Amino acid sequence: MATFTHHHHGALLKTPLSGRARIPGSKSRPGPFRVRMSLQETGPSLAVVGVTGAVGQEFLSVLQDRDFPFRSIKMLASKRSAGQNLNFLGRNYVVEELTRDSFDDVDIALFSAGGSISKEFGPLAVESGTIVVDNSSAFRMQKGVPLVVPEVNPEAMEGIKVGRGKGALIANPNCSTIICLMAATPLHRHSKVLRMVVSTYQAASGAGAAAMRELEQQTHEVLEGKPPTCKIFQRQYAFNLFSHNSAVLPNGYNEEEMKLVKETRKIWNDTDVKVTATCIRVPVMRAHAESINLQFENPLDEDTARDILKKAPGLVIIDDRTSNNFPTPLEVSNKDDVAVGRIRRDVSQEGNYGLDIFVCGDQIRKGAALNAVQIAEMLL
Ligand SMILES: NC(=O)c1ccc[n+]([C@@H]2O[C@H](COP(=O)([O-])OP(=O)(O)OC[C@H]3O[C@@H](n4cnc5c(N)ncnc54)[C@H](OP(=O)(O)O)[C@@H]3O)[C@@H](O)[C@H]2O)c1
Repeated sequence: MATFTHHHHGALLKTPLSGRARIPGSKSRPGPFRVRMSLQETGPSLAVVGVTGAVGQEFLSVLQDRDFPFRSIKMLASKRSAGQNLNFLGRNYVVEELTRDSFDDVDIALFSAGGSISKEFGPLAVESGTIVVDNSSAFRMQKGVPLVVPEVNPEAMEGIKVGRGKGALIANPNCSTIICLMAATPLHRHSKVLRMVVSTYQAASGAGAAAMRELEQQTHEVLEGKPPTCKIFQRQYAFNLFSHNSAVLPNGYNEEEMKLVKETRKIWNDTDVKVTATCIRVPVMRAHAESINLQFENPLDEDTARDILKKAPGLVIIDDRTSNNFPTPLEVSNKDDVAVGRIRRDVSQEGNYGLDIFVCGDQIRKGAALNAVQIAEMLL
């Protein structure tokens, strides 16, 4: 197994502050969907919608890191950013305004400009023959739209390929769902999860580039004794934490929590699995952490669980009880792999039917851009 690859931002626009700690001696494997190419005539034509945003910038970074083949790439954002220059792989690109005509001759479009933009332009793109990989929640639960984590359910998008003259929509799951299922799925395959309890510790990056800038600014302000600027979350974020900022529903859950519940059932194709979640925003810059409690139908002991997780693609184990060293958001920032640790038998359950684990994953990378680019690789 190779070490964690160190990612760098591809040049691009100014990106907000990001932790880039390396994990010495940590393990990962070459991605199962790796392709070695880049700018080539035979590659697909690409469009990145929302290219100036946190996820959009990461799309470019991941395309570069994975040498994704393409013959052309269109950089799309709102009117506000149109005309901006952007350097990618040594070439200059001008950001264009997203319009109804943006998708003529685009094979694959990576969308991350929010749900309303996806709803408006996604179907238009599909009509013009484009395969849309959408990062918003607009189509995730729509029947017939595959909701895909490549390591978990690649079969859901079977038959969708570039070059067949047909557009399609594929949805990228919510970041917390992706990171959770990367670790929970291999265990689920072995012993069948009956119930899952998830508690999240979510980073600023999940709320976009402006939220990351605000956390940084607030941190300075609080340290300088000034009142913090509260535009994005309407409250102090630095040196604080609070319930996830998504809308609270009549059942008392917020939307982020219900995404974990519903998306898990769709991705696992299991309408019976019981999932409950509590989602919390913590003042971390760019990677999410999640505590996951699992209840199984069939017994699974700690050691077997550890062996299963060791072999799972896209996962790295950090589980050193002696030195109290377990996954942290900082260590996985800018990394592809999701880290898992605190692997232990749940003492509240009889026998080997319960397990607790703790996971950390870079939510802009595996939680968004990387997962979408892996999906795009499967279209080739
Ligand atoms: N952050 C995440 O981790 C994450 C994870 C999964 C999914 N997503 C999804 O991706 C979306 C973007 O997230 P983000 O974190 O990258 O947000 P962000 O940093 O705020 O970026 C938003 C992007 O959308 C573009 N945009 C806004 N209005 C537009 C319009 N009318 N037409 C065309 N482009 C427009 C912005 O362009 P301008 O520069 O022109 O404003 C910018 O490029 C989210 O709304 C969410 O649906 C995000």
